[in-house]
Amino acid sequence: MNSDPPVLNLIAEITSALSARQGPLIVEQTLSCLAEMDFTADSMLWPDPSMPDAFANDLDVAIKHIPPQLSSLASAIDASKHIVQWNRDLGQFYVKDADVGGSYRNGNMNCILIGSKNGFFHSDKLFMGLFFLRPYTFYRDHDHEASEMYFNLTGPHGFRFNVNGWSDYQADSIIWNAPWLPHATRVYNIPFLCLYAWIGNLDCLCRVVHADDWAQLEDELVTASTS
Ligand SMILES: [Fe+2]
Repeated sequence: MNSDPPVLNLIAEITSALSARQGPLIVEQTLSCLAEMDFTADSMLWPDPSMPDAFANDLDVAIKHIPPQLSSLASAIDASKHIVQWNRDLGQFYVKDADVGGSYRNGNMNCILIGSKNGFFHSDKLFMGLFFLRPYTFYRDHDHEASEMYFNLTGPHGFRFNVNGWSDYQADSIIWNAPWLPHATRVYNIPFLCLYAWIGNLDCLCRVVHADDWAQLEDELVTASTS
């Protein structure tokens, strides 16, 4: 019987899934950071587990939407979901007074697996965890100095870059947000769940990149959620 902590198995499943995928440079960079690290129960840190009550059902729905080819990763997330520390970003990842919007503030949570300050394993090179958005959440255009990967585990969800046109990405797709590339996400009826990774300046703060259509996009999602 495997008695390893579930988070160790989760990191192993993430590594295996990423290794099996062709992707942009940041996939290779993430894998090489992971390869340098020592993942043993002895080197683990143990953040206090937490789960915002209102998110538990939607997280389960997201896990059920992870496609069959990622079923072992889905099982590993399911086994770890109450062990990790989920936190909502209320703007603390942003420069002071950034207008992230109520849709995002009320609709997001993330957990840190690897990081320079929190998480189960320490790294000054890689910040990695899970990022979740509830259905019909609008994540406004923003940018940051760190290079970012989203390994989308559910979908379709809408993305735009440089405040240009929207494209839908399916589950099991990988997005690379290069440093300072503005990006935004809109979530439809299926909750958004991704593996995120940051490489580069892990202490950088995000900035919102203003777009005139935020209110309209947020209203459209509210309307869609009630129809
Ligand atoms: Fe980002």
